[in-house]
Amino acid sequence: AKEPVRVLVTGAAGQIGYALVPMIARGVMLGADQPVILHMLDIPPASEALNGVKMELVDAAFPLLKGVVATTDAVEACTGVNIAVMVGGFPRKEGMERKDVMSKNVSIYKAQASALEKHAAANCKVLVVANPANTNALILKEFAPSISEKNITCLTRLDHNRALGQISERLNVPVSEVKNVIIWGNHSSTQYPDVNHATVKTPSGEKPVRQLVNDDAWLNAEFITTVQQRGAAIIKARKLSSALSAASSACDHIRDWVLGTPEGTWVSMGVYSDGSYNVPAGLIYSFPVTCRNGEWQIVQGLQIDGFSRKKLDSTAEELTEEKALAYSCLS
Ligand code: NAI
Repeated sequence: AKEPVRVLVTGAAGQIGYALVPMIARGVMLGADQPVILHMLDIPPASEALNGVKMELVDAAFPLLKGVVATTDAVEACTGVNIAVMVGGFPRKEGMERKDVMSKNVSIYKAQASALEKHAAANCKVLVVANPANTNALILKEFAPSISEKNITCLTRLDHNRALGQISERLNVPVSEVKNVIIWGNHSSTQYPDVNHATVKTPSGEKPVRQLVNDDAWLNAEFITTVQQRGAAIIKARKLSSALSAASSACDHIRDWVLGTPEGTWVSMGVYSDGSYNVPAGLIYSFPVTCRNGEWQIVQGLQIDGFSRKKLDSTAEELTEEKALAYSCLS
């Protein structure tokens, strides 16, 4: 039998946490033959609710679940973890300045970086979900220098999946037949959902999405804004932000990272930029990646047209500004 993998979920008493922990315990994240031990962290005001989640995990009698640690102590939560999904953070409240929210999250991510650096298992893989996701991941990277930058990522897979979903709806084809969309940049409304390399499997072979949709006006405008603003549309409809889709795509992100992407398919991940596609090095930026043997690689050599270039640059600019804002909170 396989050794259990220890998976940390921070903010586990929150909405996404509530959707995510049962998926992990069912094997959705790491496979149906991989036992897991869940580590759940939240803050003292949520400690009773966190304990309630732990009770439900016991009650659900998940065969793969070999243990649950539920705690408000970051050191206890981080000890020995192989995978860390960082969902906890400080939400923007009405009337708050961007800088105030950033400052709260910078201090949270600085502290949790140190706890992971000192206590996580070697080669721990980190996925930051909490917003501002890219910049929180960057702060975590800065304050956990012994964790390889290859192991620190942020979630843009939800945006990627949303783009697949929009194409599938538009063409009335199963979403499983659509692949290779790209989310470039920030997990924010400046992200660029790019379909220029996306394809659909049809009975007569793989066809470009652009050819099948045959409506550049829609693809260059409404499609992009729909994906960029989908989070706000969900809040409007549900009066709560997306949780089941966020949890599901966090599982997709880790599963593909650990178990590999299918041949000929890439996915979007926020990763540490090495300067590929002239994106400034040193930002956490969403790129198309393939994964194999537990490592991601940025897909190289894709053609970037003028329209796309502007969009790649403007989301990079926003990330550069966020980075400066985050650093100004440190001093
Ligand atoms: P939520 O407010 O329901 O849950 C957040 C949880 O984090 C709460 O239980 C809170 O007590 C906890 N928390 C706060 N500070 C903490 C700390 N220092 N350590 C540990 N836990 C802490 O929020 P929800 O809906 O679960 O969303 C979580 C985050 O995910 C938000 O920042 C949201 O903006 C972000 N998000 C990101 C998405 C992405 O695609 N990257 C998609 C959807 C949400």
